[in-house]
Amino acid sequence: MTQFLGKGAVLLLLLFVHFSNGQSVDVSKRVDCFPEPGASQSTCQSRGCIWEEAPNGSPVGTPWCYYPTQSGFTVQSTGTNSFVLAAKSKNPYGDNISPLNVKYSSNGATFLLTIGNDDRYVPPVNFPKKPSTSSESLQFTSGTIGSSDIFSFKVTRKSTGVALWDTNIGGMQFADKFIQIATYLPTKNIFGFGDHIHKKIKHNLDRYTTWPMFARDIGPDSGSALSTQNLYGVHPFYICIESDGKAHGVFILNSNAQEVETGPGPHLQYRTIGGRIDMAFFPGPTPEEVVNQYLQHIGFPFLPAYWALGYQLCRWGYGSLDAMKTVISRNQAAGIPLDVPYADIDYMNHYEDFTEGDNWSGFPAYTQQLHSQGLHLIVIFDPAVEVDYASFQRGINADASFIEWARDDQVPHNIQDQYPMAKNTRIMLGNVWPERNTAFPDFLDTKNNTNVWWAGEFAQFHKTLPFDGMWIDMNEPSNFDTGTYSSMEEQLASAKLSCPVSGPDSSLEVPPYPTQAVYQRDGEYLFSKTLCMLGKTARRSRNFYDTKNLYGWSEARATYQAIPQVTGKRSAVISRSTFPSSGRYGGHWLGDNTARWEDLQTSVIGVMEFNMFGIPYVGSDICGFNGKSNEELCLRWHQFGAFSPFSRDHNSEGMPDQDPAVWPSVANAARIALGFRYYYLPFLYSLHYNAARYGHTVIRPLFFEFPKDEETLSISEQFLWGSALMIAPALYQGQTSVHAYFPSETWYSLQPETYGQKMFSGFNDVSAPLASLTPVFVRGGFILPRQAANTTTTASRLNPFEVLITVKTNAASSGELYYDGGDDLIPNDNIEQHPRVHWQFSFTSSVAGGVFTGNCETCSTSVKPPTLDTIEILGYPTTPNFNGFKLDGSSVTLDMSKTFYDSSIQRVMISTKNFISLMALKKKFTLTFT
Ligand SMILES: *[C@@H]1O[C@H](CO)[C@@H](O)[C@H](O)[C@H]1NC(C)=O
Ligand SMILES: *[C@@H]1O[C@H](CO)[C@@H](O)[C@H](O)[C@H]1NC(C)=O
Ligand SMILES: *[C@@H]1O[C@H](CO)[C@@H](O)[C@H](O)[C@H]1NC(C)=O
Repeated sequence: MTQFLGKGAVLLLLLFVHFSNGQSVDVSKRVDCFPEPGASQSTCQSRGCIWEEAPNGSPVGTPWCYYPTQSGFTVQSTGTNSFVLAAKSKNPYGDNISPLNVKYSSNGATFLLTIGNDDRYVPPVNFPKKPSTSSESLQFTSGTIGSSDIFSFKVTRKSTGVALWDTNIGGMQFADKFIQIATYLPTKNIFGFGDHIHKKIKHNLDRYTTWPMFARDIGPDSGSALSTQNLYGVHPFYICIESDGKAHGVFILNSNAQEVETGPGPHLQYRTIGGRIDMAFFPGPTPEEVVNQYLQHIGFPFLPAYWALGYQLCRWGYGSLDAMKTVISRNQAAGIPLDVPYADIDYMNHYEDFTEGDNWSGFPAYTQQLHSQGLHLIVIFDPAVEVDYASFQRGINADASFIEWARDDQVPHNIQDQYPMAKNTRIMLGNVWPERNTAFPDFLDTKNNTNVWWAGEFAQFHKTLPFDGMWIDMNEPSNFDTGTYSSMEEQLASAKLSCPVSGPDSSLEVPPYPTQAVYQRDGEYLFSKTLCMLGKTARRSRNFYDTKNLYGWSEARATYQAIPQVTGKRSAVISRSTFPSSGRYGGHWLGDNTARWEDLQTSVIGVMEFNMFGIPYVGSDICGFNGKSNEELCLRWHQFGAFSPFSRDHNSEGMPDQDPAVWPSVANAARIALGFRYYYLPFLYSLHYNAARYGHTVIRPLFFEFPKDEETLSISEQFLWGSALMIAPALYQGQTSVHAYFPSETWYSLQPETYGQKMFSGFNDVSAPLASLTPVFVRGGFILPRQAANTTTTASRLNPFEVLITVKTNAASSGELYYDGGDDLIPNDNIEQHPRVHWQFSFTSSVAGGVFTGNCETCSTSVKPPTLDTIEILGYPTTPNFNGFKLDGSSVTLDMSKTFYDSSIQRVMISTKNFISLMALKKKFTLTFT
């Protein structure tokens, strides 16, 4: 309504609203009406918004210009699970779309809500959307704000009546390029949204903070007290813990430039500049169930090859194969467990994909040598290909698509015509690592030619260099130094990719509200460091403006899909840019961090967050990428990094070496920490299986297991492997102990100095020696499979199995073991059919003795696991009768050189060679003792 009124009328209306309804909004509950710089009373009021200074002592970032509460849309008509809304208030960045459709539905326990008409852009992400289950359900109710006719809605938890969302705060907008929705939140316990650096795992809702989400090639800034800059990927998903400890999650599917502003209401304001709002609400009620319901919706993570869980060693700047060989051999000689050497862009010929440089002539032979030692090779690939060599020509011949200009007359022929292969195309040429111009494959190609060509390039190159995994970088996508132009003359005078900043072609480049992704970088545009927003994708059916955030996701999918015809084995893809469901296709490293203590600290949070995002195979560059690392930092980073699912040391060009063999102390700490990792790898792999098969996390923040313990909500520097193993790494310079929190539970130390000791609950100072194991603890009531470590996983996975059983008073212990071929493909990702043995273990004890049982849930005869030879029990109160062991009723003779009871820590060790078969034939076993 107000958009049809003159400015004076708007002011009058406002005055009326302001005074008649006492509309002044508390400083903690304001919906920001002027998120860009330059707000003033007049610019604010001309938007139909309220201008009111925030008095001293107001929350940091309180907006002075805010929407009247009674702003938004009215209901024009109501249908079955749907509404047609009519625009009622003014949108500062364009005319609100009217009529506007809202519809809702349920998918199992997940509640789905769409705001936006059917003709709006929806990201082409083919989510599986499996119906979720939950013991709880959600309820939708619509209403109006105050005494007005402005539409609002609530999504409440049926069991408690708690409103997860309540849009009674006003401010809803829906113009073509500015869409906004705001809601009250039940508590300030908000976790998630990415890709950002969060200094604490829990968001700070005592202040107003805006987090832009627009994929960008930029290194994380952990050095500042607060850096809200958007990083490589986009994850509009959060988890909230309600005041009774119940958890829910909310996901907004949208691939445009977007952002969320959180405030002390507690409330949040979500803004996007295209597409529509497709929301999914997950009822939990535990945080793990929330993630599980989220992953039912977007897709379960891939199962990495077993070797990909080994330690990985990388650097940019090897310069030659010889340099790489030197570093790899010295770490092998130092006894560092090592599975995956890497080559960065150095190995390519002039940074061209699918080529090898002159200094790398022996690379294929070296790769064979690594294979013969049980190692595997991962090499880097960038998406942009130079437009003057065979790979590109094959792409053109195959009718692969590349991101293009919208019209012929936009093509800068001064650049284009230098390249016979690109001359008569509209392909938008940019500049990345190669010396000459590059084209950006469009992996959203609706004909799929691009993906077929891409897979073919990998396959052809693999015949030369038999690499095992693919590392895909620069896929935001990154373009170096994108410029601007205002006229075609300017465009033609420029030697680099430039985008229009004025005139009719600039509407996508300079939209009315470009988000904080632009405002927080002076003088920049949406296209800065990437391609022009007017670029065409998906066979010209989409604008790059809409799909940019999907670039890394689509490249990961194309790369993952190439694997069967490239290596023919299970593998691992690591991608820098990610989007919801990227985890189906690959893992992620936390980007170009810096060798600083702050970066080590935020790595812990990053690894936990990406597990919430469904990308459990994640880790940070150990020792730090940019900048010069040092002995103590590199040592501590290895102690932490050994517990990241993706565990890789990586270094930047020109920086001194930082592989563990550089310093004897780091080598020692790495041997110990990685030795522990390799020992417990069967447990970690079983967790990854549960992620891939059922949609679980691998790494968990403490609050995932103890959401009702409020203390855990603020623990940012400890984490769990699954439910059972807790790691409390040292993350500060000069630190000698960790002030670690132990939720009320039975915890046993696994550090050699205090092995088997029970920990008090609450905060404990635990010793964190440089020359020993990271503080790591195991929770009572669990059974963890393990295998003696070797220096490769290829060798360690052949060793006999062991189990560690931890006793919790008056409770059974349980655990599981997943074992398979390790690197055999899972055709069509059909993991249910994948050959495996999957054992469920349980242990109970009483005054009469102990009973340890195994049941093979799925047993494939083609999989031949080693025997289970050793059983260790922590917390067992008395000496067992070692002569009274019976396996399936028959007496067992134990190897008494490895069998004992240590009463000081109530520890039992039982061992004998070829003790318990885990082969398919057996299906179950029972071991009893008195
Ligand atoms: C190749 O190796 C030589 C000798 O080590 C070195 O000078 C040169 O910079 C290397 N070339 C590249 C492209 O790294
Ligand atoms: C597209 O091509 C890739 C690579 O050959 C293939 O794996 C994938 O299944 C294809 N997708 C479709 C939809 O045909
Ligand atoms: C480690 O693996 C090698 C190669 O398979 C083997 O020879 C060696 O015995 C193994 N060592 C241990 C301690 O398992």
